Amino acid sequence: MRIDIITIFPDYFGPLSVSLLGKASQRGDIDVRVHDLRRHTDDVHRSVDDSPYGGGPGMLMSPEPWGRALDALLADPPGPGLSPLLVLPTPAGERFTQHRAVEWASRPWLIIGCGRYEGIDARVAINAATRMEVAEVSIGDYVLAGGEVAALVLIEAVVRLLPGFMGNPESPLDDSFAAGKLLEAPAYTRPASWRGLEVPEILRSGDHKAVADWRRAESERLTRERRPDLL
Ligand code: 6GU
Repeated sequence: MRIDIITIFPDYFGPLSVSLLGKASQRGDIDVRVHDLRRHTDDVHRSVDDSPYGGGPGMLMSPEPWGRALDALLADPPGPGLSPLLVLPTPAGERFTQHRAVEWASRPWLIIGCGRYEGIDARVAINAATRMEVAEVSIGDYVLAGGEVAALVLIEAVVRLLPGFMGNPESPLDDSFAAGKLLEAPAYTRPASWRGLEVPEILRSGDHKAVADWRRAESERLTRERRPDLL
């Protein structure tokens, strides 16, 4: 999978070379390229923002550097005839879910455009949609200062689903939100007794049916308690 990231803060993406994402890059399962939006400006100040029409606080990102950055990527696709999915993280987007992560995991080419300030001129997404599929997504009901951290979240959620990413290929299916949309039951490892707290007896019983029943009941209890909206 090829992932192109457009940002004015390339340094935000250092974490991509760490841990399992770093290993996926080394294996060649993902090819992540970070592009500095300012390379697509031509004024001396390399400015990428301007004040909004109609007034209001803050600054917006100007369309032209974005148009050029996307043109440059489209001119050099990672494979013949490939068309990207353009992901634009924004608090005004549709909610990013595990379902979407699964969908995106089968895409050969993602471009992630990270907005700053009060967002990107709305024509960028409209123009891009004439040439590629566009998804504006939010990672939750709070406001971040820019799309970079959200981009890292999206990438980790998608890339961990790629074949070979995790040691145990069964585990993605057990995830909270993937397995029947309930939260996962609490889990334990050795020692059986720790600071006066015991691992539930059923988990040590060796009775697989009893373990499965216990986990399902705990999943339901936790979900009712913490996320009743999922039931
Ligand atoms: Cl995707 N971007 C920003 N700036 N804030 C957010 C968000 C995205 N999702 C939730 N808050």
